[in-house]
Amino acid sequence: MQIIKDRILVIGACGQIGVELTTELRRIYGSENVLASDLREEHPLLKGTGPYVNCDVMNKEMLHVLVIRHNITQIYLLAAILSATGEKNPALAWHINMQSLLNVLEIAREEKLHKIYWPSSIAVFGPTSPRTNTPQHTIIEPTTIYGISKYAGERWCEYFHAHFGVDVRSLRYPGLISYKSAPGGGTTDYAVEIYHEALRDKEYTSFLSEDTYLPMMYMPDAIRATIELMEAPAEKISIRSSYNLSAMSFSPKEISASIQKHIPEFTIAYKEDFRQQIANGWPQSIDDSQAQKDWNWKPQYDLDAMTEDMLKNLA
Ligand code: NAD
Ligand code: SER
Repeated sequence: MQIIKDRILVIGACGQIGVELTTELRRIYGSENVLASDLREEHPLLKGTGPYVNCDVMNKEMLHVLVIRHNITQIYLLAAILSATGEKNPALAWHINMQSLLNVLEIAREEKLHKIYWPSSIAVFGPTSPRTNTPQHTIIEPTTIYGISKYAGERWCEYFHAHFGVDVRSLRYPGLISYKSAPGGGTTDYAVEIYHEALRDKEYTSFLSEDTYLPMMYMPDAIRATIELMEAPAEKISIRSSYNLSAMSFSPKEISASIQKHIPEFTIAYKEDFRQQIANGWPQSIDDSQAQKDWNWKPQYDLDAMTEDMLKNLA
């Protein structure tokens, strides 16, 4: 019997998630088996760690050639326009977020790729969804173009699985916090900026109000969740749209109090901007019991453990 080794393509490898996910995939599956790609120049943390190509996911022909030439069997599609940037140019956000996914799903079908990963977001939920402990299946009426594109993407994933047997898997990430690669224009980015500014200036002005609670997750948990989902046997995956995923929920006031345990002189001020309205339509906490049940999901970091690690690494 011939055993075919998986060859992985990461699209959007130089973004906030991509840098850390690519690094971990290379550690697990071998550097030479993980091809990183992005529109941008190679991220400094990826340089010298494995193969890299410039590729625009919107160019389906080029992407198709790349997949064939490198014998790719799995794709992680991370390229997207996030919530805050999306509201500034809705047509572009819709075009990129939808067409990138359709290009990848079509190629996966044509080339019979083994597995596809594509992230969705808590942004699929809207003001009519239950705000706390938001269930997997509930009213979903997103009001941002980012949320609309993620929800449509989830339906496409389920469709390609049901009709063409494409093994596509997905997580609805909460806001992700990390120190290795900068976030790319989301509403939850304040929870990354605050650590940088706490260390540099000992003060931060939040663009969300003090009691705006949002679901959040530290990047090591997000990377582990992604790989655990992708490694789970196909018969364990009962959700082919996208899994709810949860770790912690906090407000700007609470993250500030967590930072003050390490930097007592740190102060926070509040000046809301257009991102407040986006946050107002999102859940405050998420019920991820289906992920726990299907593939044993369990987060490791809470707010204080994350704060300690962020401050230590950024310092
Ligand atoms: P990011 O903006 O940091 O990175 C996206 C990367 O994609 C960038 O490096 C960008 O250069 C690249 N890219 C953009 N257009 C491209 C194109 N046409 N071709 C090739 N590459 C292109 O985003 P991220 O935070 O790493 O998010 C990755 C995925 O996870 C996205 O789908 C996002 O919606 C989702 N997500 C992220 C978060 C979060 O908090 N970071 C939360 C929920 C969901
Ligand atoms: N962190 C992302 C954003 O704020 C959520 O998908 O856009």
